[in-house]
Amino acid sequence: PEAITVQELANRMAERGADLVKALFKMGMPTTMNEFIDQDTAELLVTEFGHIIKRVSDSDVEIGIEGEADADEHLKPRPPVVTIMGHVDHGKTSLLDALRGTDVVKGEAGGITQHMGAYQVTLKSGDKISFLDTPGHEAFTEMRARGAQATDIVVLVVAADDGIKPQTIEAINHVKAAGVPMIVAINKMDKNGADANRVRTELLQHDIQVEEMGGDVQDVEVSALKKTGLDELTEKILLQAEIMELKANPDRMAEGIVVEAKLDKGRGPLATVLVKRGTLRAGDIFVVGVEWGKVRALVNDKGQTIKEAGPSMPVEVLGLSGVPQSGDILSVVENEARAREVADYRQQVALTKRTTAAPASLESMFAGLA
Ligand code: GTP
Ligand code: MG
Repeated sequence: PEAITVQELANRMAERGADLVKALFKMGMPTTMNEFIDQDTAELLVTEFGHIIKRVSDSDVEIGIEGEADADEHLKPRPPVVTIMGHVDHGKTSLLDALRGTDVVKGEAGGITQHMGAYQVTLKSGDKISFLDTPGHEAFTEMRARGAQATDIVVLVVAADDGIKPQTIEAINHVKAAGVPMIVAINKMDKNGADANRVRTELLQHDIQVEEMGGDVQDVEVSALKKTGLDELTEKILLQAEIMELKANPDRMAEGIVVEAKLDKGRGPLATVLVKRGTLRAGDIFVVGVEWGKVRALVNDKGQTIKEAGPSMPVEVLGLSGVPQSGDILSVVENEARAREVADYRQQVALTKRTTAAPASLESMFAGLA
């Protein structure tokens, strides 16, 4: 019959060996870490610990990670989330700078965006639009894919003097895969050799038919440098958003998605979170991926400390136990015990998934844990 050491079993279960030894002792089978136990005993242990894991996993459901829908009467309009995509150097960050009245491009190493920026712009009309800036360099495919998924609308930036390039095509494919509407911003119209119609024709070859070509994709000619066409661009974004009737419930425990996260020398682990629904407040306790935390401070895209962040707002969160992964969901929970429990549970699951495949007979037992 198959035998396994206590330590080995503990590894496979992503549990501490000491906890298994303790459990065995309670079951009247004093055993040391390196001793072999038989299949039946191993099964008993897995069931015992499986119970614990199962109970914790229920709380995952309870906190609505999978998104229990909010009742219609609780839904209120929210700003659109717009992701800017396109080939390297076609002017994505410049366009955002122009819309925000900032100069992020100047501060970038080599003038190349290497992370995802998240901003919110308030227009003269009072309307708000949230923007995610993505890098155009070919190395950042994953960030572009994530950007297309976390968004309501994509603005595809194409330089009028350069036309459709490899990462333009890649972005188009992400947009199609994510099934989100797209607006094409034909940028650098101030430049010699700018040819908007060439861009429109090239787009046709990739099944993107703009209005002027008889299709229904909106396009707009802009110059980030000369700040032309910007109002038209934001009007088109708002028009598209209006059609989509974007809504969320602001009056519930917050849920958001991690746009990016890092370890800051002075401030500790930081996560830029885009709030999807609910309102995130200082003092809130949350789980985010395998980490958890208590909001120590919320900082907006202008570096100002704010008290709360509602739906569609990007905000930097301080007070995490560790650095989460981009794309992780942040969920506010009722107390610290629950936050620790869920984070611990997820850490175990993550470890179990990473553990090498168990022998066939044990495999079936572990299937229930993953
Ligand atoms: P990545 O993030 O690295 O993919 O680049 P990006 O798309 O954000 O381009 P970025 O905004 O950094 O601009 C690239 C270069 O194009 C910079 O030198 C900008 O000054 C220039 N540029 C951007 N927009 C315009 C424009 O409308 N007209 C002209 N003439 N130059 C522009
Ligand atoms: Mg950029």
